[in-house]
Amino acid sequence: MTQDELKQAVAEAAVAYILPMLETDTIVGVGTGSTANLFIDELAKHKGLFDGTVASSEASAERLKKHGIPVYNLNSVDSIRVYVDGADESNDHLHLIKGGGAALTREKIVAACSDEFVCIADESKLVKVLGDFPLPVEIIPMARGHVARELVKLGGDPVYREGVVTDNGNHILDVYNLEILDPIALEKSIDGIVGVVTNGLFAKRSADVLLLATKDGVKTLK
Ligand code: 5RP
Repeated sequence: MTQDELKQAVAEAAVAYILPMLETDTIVGVGTGSTANLFIDELAKHKGLFDGTVASSEASAERLKKHGIPVYNLNSVDSIRVYVDGADESNDHLHLIKGGGAALTREKIVAACSDEFVCIADESKLVKVLGDFPLPVEIIPMARGHVARELVKLGGDPVYREGVVTDNGNHILDVYNLEILDPIALEKSIDGIVGVVTNGLFAKRSADVLLLATKDGVKTLK
């Protein structure tokens, strides 16, 4: 199977997983990226079954609206029953690296507000130790030099993601060469740097479930 076929399989599995949760007042949190896009397309087949969605990016909101699925402002909903999103890496504890699509801040906010976080990924994303994928860090633009120097002190090699402005009007540093043995501690340390908006470690609030597409089928890891 190709990686695209694996992504399609896990998108379908995610819809099957959340179908029992869908009621007329259910709000679904929707992530960002190519796997999340396939999930949106599958979710659209059931749009009459639930109330609407909260999206983690402008791009996902636009795709949802094109399907005729309502998209709510997070501040106008009471709760999000389930959040479905992809990842750049996951370890066995379902600690994640996210933000390859620069949507990490809104993704982390929606994940924090959701009763259950279902991560959807193909098997290439499962790793023993996080850090082969460069860790995205969203920063206030004027703090770029300061944050970069602090990230070097933490052992990383930050690289400015040229030409990218997040939905929040900020910039991204991608931090290379981190071997992330304690993701929760590193997430807290990076959050403590002045000028950092969010870092792409989702360890303090990890995924609750990982649906992992493999050549032998979609596996459920908890
Ligand atoms: C966007 C993300 C995505 O979930 C992550 O980059 C995975 O994307 P894809 O499904 O395209 O591989 O965190 O900010």
